[in-house]
Amino acid sequence: MEARNSPNIPDYEDRDFVIDDAEADMEIRIIHELLPSFSRWSVDLGCGYGRLSGALSRKSGKLILVDYSMTGMKRARQKMLDDGIPASFLLADISHLPFKSDSIDTVAMFRVFHHFNDPALAIQEIVRCMRPSGHMVFNYNSSDNASMMLFWLKQRINGGNSHQKFPFPLKPGTLRASPEDDRRPIYFQTHSTVRSLIRKNGLVQSHRNFHSGMLGRVASKNSFFQEAARDLQTRMLDKWPSRFLFPNNYVLCRKEGRDDGTEFHKLEDLLACPVCSGTIFIEDDSIECANGHRFTISNGIYDFRNPS
Ligand SMILES: C[S@@+](CC[C@H](N)C(=O)[O-])C[C@H]1O[C@@H](n2cnc3c(N)ncnc32)[C@H](O)[C@@H]1O
Ligand SMILES: [Zn+2]
Repeated sequence: MEARNSPNIPDYEDRDFVIDDAEADMEIRIIHELLPSFSRWSVDLGCGYGRLSGALSRKSGKLILVDYSMTGMKRARQKMLDDGIPASFLLADISHLPFKSDSIDTVAMFRVFHHFNDPALAIQEIVRCMRPSGHMVFNYNSSDNASMMLFWLKQRINGGNSHQKFPFPLKPGTLRASPEDDRRPIYFQTHSTVRSLIRKNGLVQSHRNFHSGMLGRVASKNSFFQEAARDLQTRMLDKWPSRFLFPNNYVLCRKEGRDDGTEFHKLEDLLACPVCSGTIFIEDDSIECANGHRFTISNGIYDFRNPS
């Protein structure tokens, strides 16, 4: 049976991978402030080691963590157990999700977008799984900005990045060399490519988006300044020079359409085979779809990566 994986899914199998930078606190605030106060089913897509899953759980009836890395997911599961947060843990490729269409109320996806070598496929798949009127909050780093120019220059001086002729990718979807290594390829898209993907897939952007960058960092220290900075960043979001100066964009979107009110009571109700979309049956430590695709469960982690 053929696995349906996107090529070049990054390897995040390192045991000590940690994110701890100036934007980490802000991401927790974004989940807290931008997302609706309650969702029946929320998914942390590309959850890594569950850094933001706890924040998402405070807004969720039921929480699902999805990632491709077993090491990351084991850490995430342990973190949720330690923090007493009930959740489901799925290993899957974001471009081939094991969910029924129109089933997920809220999606959070932080620091993942730049790993998609086919972002159109990934966004289309995520939107398929979202309920009409459901929300997605995510971030992306655009490629056409000052910070990428400096990055390119630094790499050129160090002798790398020679295949890239321009200071930054001007064409949509241009590949940027990875700053790490081939285990984690990175593809930054232009601002307008991402914006058009959002529109084409029936997502409506909220007016509450903002860039990070210096304003976002300073803002957390003072509430008056915070409001002013947020307001300015929101107004400037799609405008040059803001998007030239602040490459990291946080976007809240809503899926167009009317929700039909279908209830999904337990995980099995909203799962579907990622290969054939067939109904999923779960028994002890194995998963089988109506058309015979089998998947495994180990230590409470549902592995949808490689069907047998
Ligand atoms: C930089 S980490 C971010 C983790 C987490 N969202 C956070 O902000 O702390 C990127 C994560 O995305 C996951 N990932 C990347 N591409 C994926 C794909 N196609 N399907 C599933 N997970 C993916 C990686 O395994 C990794 O755990
Ligand atoms: Zn199947």
